[in-house]
Amino acid sequence: MPKWLDNAVFYEIYPQSFLDTNADGIGDFQGIINKLDYIRDLGFNAIWMNPCFLSPFGDAGYDVADYYTAAPRYGTNEDLKRLFAEAHRRGIHVLLDLVPGHTSVEHPWFRESMKPERNAFTDRYVWTDSVWEAPESMGCLRAVSQRDGSCAVNFFTCQPSLNYGYYNRTRPWQQSPEDEGPKATLEAMMDVMRFWLTMGCDGFRVDMAMSLVKNDPDGLGTIALWQKVFSVLEREFPEAAMVSEWGEPEKSLRGGFHMDFLLHFGPSHYNDLFRCEEPFFSDRGLGDASAFVERYLESREKAGKDGLICIPSGNHDMVRLAKHVEGDQKKLAFTFLLTMPGAPFVYYGDEIGMRYVENLTSVEGGFDRTGARSPMQWDSCVNAGFSAAPKEKLYIPQDPAADRPTAAQQLTDPDSLLNLVKQLISLRQAHPALQNRGGITFVSKGEPKQALAYEREQDGEKLLVAINPFREAVEFSYTGKLTEPVFTFGGKAFQNGERITLPSVSAGIYKLG
Ligand code: GLC
Ligand code: CA
Repeated sequence: MPKWLDNAVFYEIYPQSFLDTNADGIGDFQGIINKLDYIRDLGFNAIWMNPCFLSPFGDAGYDVADYYTAAPRYGTNEDLKRLFAEAHRRGIHVLLDLVPGHTSVEHPWFRESMKPERNAFTDRYVWTDSVWEAPESMGCLRAVSQRDGSCAVNFFTCQPSLNYGYYNRTRPWQQSPEDEGPKATLEAMMDVMRFWLTMGCDGFRVDMAMSLVKNDPDGLGTIALWQKVFSVLEREFPEAAMVSEWGEPEKSLRGGFHMDFLLHFGPSHYNDLFRCEEPFFSDRGLGDASAFVERYLESREKAGKDGLICIPSGNHDMVRLAKHVEGDQKKLAFTFLLTMPGAPFVYYGDEIGMRYVENLTSVEGGFDRTGARSPMQWDSCVNAGFSAAPKEKLYIPQDPAADRPTAAQQLTDPDSLLNLVKQLISLRQAHPALQNRGGITFVSKGEPKQALAYEREQDGEKLLVAINPFREAVEFSYTGKLTEPVFTFGGKAFQNGERITLPSVSAGIYKLG
């Protein structure tokens, strides 16, 4: 278990949209390097970067054409190596995005695999043995070559499924994870990991980690596959950290992952908090966090004590936090995000409340995700300081609003969201009880018009976090004794015996006597 995860706080960077340093309208590695001080000064000590490898960009780089080469539009492998070194110099760890479930149709493995003559890559992907039979999956590629078969796709049709075998096999072309083809696929992916870990990256966010073994309804085959991967990684790269896009911590952490995300899909009730018509973080008080809390506690119970359940502020696949969480509610949402166990993940731009840009034409397979991927708003210069390219050449159009938030403006405003995020990260780093492995006990579960309140505890230190998004004061019963607050927003809690009253739209973190 990498020790550095005990207090890691992550910042997610979508490289296309972060900072463009050569005026081609697309962000690049040098842009990320230039902003490492910004990231460190906010308190982040870890980064996850979306895929930055050679790709036709049919799905923003989640369609890899060569796992070993950085996409030239971002820079070279040497630049990426320099990025790792510059990050490390500032105490920042860097995770790359590993896409093990599929490649682009342009990957040389797929080109070989398409050939009708048997070769070393014939079994690298999931193919049926007749073009008239389609595999059950997201779809398939048929008659793309003279190979007689259909190839399963894992997501979009430009993403053929790599072959890790089938858990339940009902057709002759479905291979076992123990067959030569699937074993070679896994070995090839291990080599990719070794290559980048040796070059200086600190681990991976694993794309669709749950998707590898097919016909695997309970995930048992995929869990076994990851256990195999971790038995090697723990020996060869014990400090490498791995976070899964899975969304079911009880499965992924059993597979050996150090962390799993709660996502906008899956059973976690994550959407109840930030992404629905009546989110919990709203002053209308119609939202309900209690199903989230119940499910969270169940997952923690099943996941065991070592794994981290990570709650992201957002990511490149969902609408921005600011779409449903309005005004000061964003401050309450961040108080929650930055005081929960598990490593927090903040999506670039969420720290300034960047908006979801409505009605954009899809870019690189973004579709409705495109509005959450618009270029970072740094300052009030042209293109918000993102790029010196003409506006029409930007990767994605920016938020056109005159009052769009910028990092520069918020840095100078002591009451800004950015400064609140900075303050909360620094509190988290000062109090082990608030960090990734500390315990949690809910004392009020955020039912409609109720507070969300929980104790955090580690090494004898105990704190109470209490949040009231509702526009009226709320009460809950509590037997502990609040002493001084280490943080408040919107007013202080009032304690009268075993009753605590929280002012409207407020949040606080209290020491206990
Ligand atoms: C993951 C990525 C998403 C991508 C998909 C296919 O969900 O986060 O952006 O489109 O996998 O790789
Ligand atoms: Ca550029």
